[in-house]
Amino acid sequence: MLPESLAHLNKPAFQSLHEQRTENKMVIEAWHMEESNEDQRLPHHRNPKEFVSMNKLADLGVLYWHLNPKNYDNDKELQKIREERGYNYMDFLDLCPEKVENYEQKLKNFFTEHIHGDEEIRYCLEGSGYFDVRDNDDRWIRIWIREGDMIVLPAGIYHRFTLDAGNYVKLMRLFLGEPVWTAYNRPQEEHPARKEYTRNFVEKAGVALEAH
Ligand SMILES: [Fe+2]
Repeated sequence: MLPESLAHLNKPAFQSLHEQRTENKMVIEAWHMEESNEDQRLPHHRNPKEFVSMNKLADLGVLYWHLNPKNYDNDKELQKIREERGYNYMDFLDLCPEKVENYEQKLKNFFTEHIHGDEEIRYCLEGSGYFDVRDNDDRWIRIWIREGDMIVLPAGIYHRFTLDAGNYVKLMRLFLGEPVWTAYNRPQEEHPARKEYTRNFVEKAGVALEAH
């Protein structure tokens, strides 16, 4: 028997994100995607699966919180995030054919690889969906957002969005100032937001790697 202080040594040092999520720890699930032309709403895992850690997402500038989606009206934690980051604008996007004009066209646009000049901030209140972001090797990482997940994609990151097989999501959209939803489809290497993203998250990561 190990003394209690050493008992943790008996446990595996690494737990996959999937295992953590299954145990109900609030960790977002993300993975490297298999390139394929099959239905975009399928998970597109590689074989074997390649989960991506929260740290790796943070290195790309992606921020994440898990909040209580039943209490968004009165949620102090949400309020604090909004105040600290200046997210004074808020609205809702209910993605179902009855509530969205040009539903099919919109979904198509969301899934076309693009950037924005500002952060994309989404809080999933109901349903689920996938945000795909490019890593520094230009590979797709699929981020599965479900009820209570809130993510921020930094300005200038190449990304796209799709519903998953559940076919429904209700999102809160937040914004700093007057909202601008304009999407700039790839390539956008000369866009100021892209240049800044590259400086902050691609070049710096490269320098850090070389230093090792
Ligand atoms: Fe977007």
